[in-house]
Amino acid sequence: MKLHDILIVGAGLAGMRAALAAPSHLDVAILSKVHPVRSHSVAAQGGINAALGENDSWEAHAFDTTKGGLYLGDQDAIEAMCREGPGDILELERMGVIFSRDERGRIAQRPFGGAGFPRTCYAADRTGHAILHAMYEQLMKRRIGVYEEWYVTLLIVEEGICRGVVAWDLVRGGLHAIGAKAVILATGGSGRVFLTSTNAVINTGDGMVLAYLAGAPLEDMEFVQFHPTTLKDTGILITEGARGEGGHLLNTLGERFMTRYAPEQMELAARSTVSLAIGREIAEGRGVEECVLLDLRHLGRARILERLPQIRELAVEFAGVDPIETPIPVRPGAHYQMGGVRANQWGETEVAGLYAAGECACVSVHGANRLGGNSLLETIVFGRRAGQRAGDYVSRIAPRGLTDVALRAEEAGIRRLMASTGRERAWEIRDELGKVMSQNLGIFRTEKSMRQALQIIQDLKVRASRVWLQDHGKIFNTDLIQALELRSLVEIAETIVAGALAREESRGAHYRSDFPRRDDENWLKHTLAYWTPDGPSLRYAPVTITRFPPK
Ligand code: FUM
Repeated sequence: MKLHDILIVGAGLAGMRAALAAPSHLDVAILSKVHPVRSHSVAAQGGINAALGENDSWEAHAFDTTKGGLYLGDQDAIEAMCREGPGDILELERMGVIFSRDERGRIAQRPFGGAGFPRTCYAADRTGHAILHAMYEQLMKRRIGVYEEWYVTLLIVEEGICRGVVAWDLVRGGLHAIGAKAVILATGGSGRVFLTSTNAVINTGDGMVLAYLAGAPLEDMEFVQFHPTTLKDTGILITEGARGEGGHLLNTLGERFMTRYAPEQMELAARSTVSLAIGREIAEGRGVEECVLLDLRHLGRARILERLPQIRELAVEFAGVDPIETPIPVRPGAHYQMGGVRANQWGETEVAGLYAAGECACVSVHGANRLGGNSLLETIVFGRRAGQRAGDYVSRIAPRGLTDVALRAEEAGIRRLMASTGRERAWEIRDELGKVMSQNLGIFRTEKSMRQALQIIQDLKVRASRVWLQDHGKIFNTDLIQALELRSLVEIAETIVAGALAREESRGAHYRSDFPRRDDENWLKHTLAYWTPDGPSLRYAPVTITRFPPK
């Protein structure tokens, strides 16, 4: 059995940053269900925020983040992120990230929604790609080992302490126990619980559910961000950078309808405001085939090709529209989970030895609505912090072997799954789940629609436990992985619905038509979902407020 000091699950930006931040004398390994540069961070387009500008300040960034999150973010964590962000950006540059430059040769910054300042650093519209590849080079330089294409089925927790994982080796087949003095979860989001999403198909909330089943609560899961501009039919992300560069949103009458919803910030209002505005335009009949139009034509060919080359390519290839000549049909789509495994500013969860960072964690810096460009920053700042803190922790822990109890139990579970005589395929249930979530837990929610969804999800959960596998082999059995991912998705769906049903107010990304107002008196608090066999049990925790009283 392998034993490491620190095992990081997930090889996107948070996971790699954690690995690079851990002290180099430690035995650190990463495990990922895909090759590291196929992690979903690679898809991040528009940029990463940091107060680098001469007239900007980390305090202004902290204020925008707090206000944009409707005061639900923990302000001590927000302060840490905004204060440390500029140093982390410069460190990324030293690692080799090629950021776009301004006319003075400094890192260029573009305006993003809800920000009082242009503070989003970018590499054209492929920022995640640029950072992920530079970081992977560093990972190779440090010779940090990667379990490539492995899937964790269980966190091993003994006497309340996380001591490793049980994982399936996709390439060769077979379950293995891997011991670690500390485990850091950096598995990304859960966007695939919705039918269409900007997320990769791998984003099934696995890490969140591993922690949830191990006894750590999931926090604020009802806050799912719907990005205002995703491409018609496919849901592919069309970066906010397009509006940052000056793009306009138009309805079928050719109106810049944001004048009615946010006359000052217009297209660069907070995402929740823009998504709701687009939703209303469509619902009131001023949409264009269930979309609105993103018009970039006035930016001109040269600027589109320099700043938004990938957006042009995506629009041409997936919607048959060249934005140099024709507006792009867009609509809001599931994009980001503001909630996740409850973790403090150092990534520590409620389970000793278990850390979480990046989108799978809720630190919580985004509150009820994340500002564009803050997610990459979160991965870098809190990935680093989790790596550092786990490094301190393991230096105090004596090595210890594992029993094979957990491994044997998981092997029995896989055998049962392989032998299932059920009739349904995992993808069928996954599709149904996605439809229910998209229809009933989208940008507009009501008690009635959510109760209906909950009933269906509970039924799907039972059906998910009896799916039938067509592939009974060991080598690269994606059928098996889909069945395991489905178990994550139904748990995630339950926590989203439970939190959303209970929260009788509207705040940021959680908009209830039956409770349209924000209610600080009763709901300025975090939702904590604890796993029970009968579904999530909810508790609540206070929000940390330091310098910005809620307004
Ligand atoms: O619009 C975008 O480029 C997305 C950025 C983000 O979600 O931070």
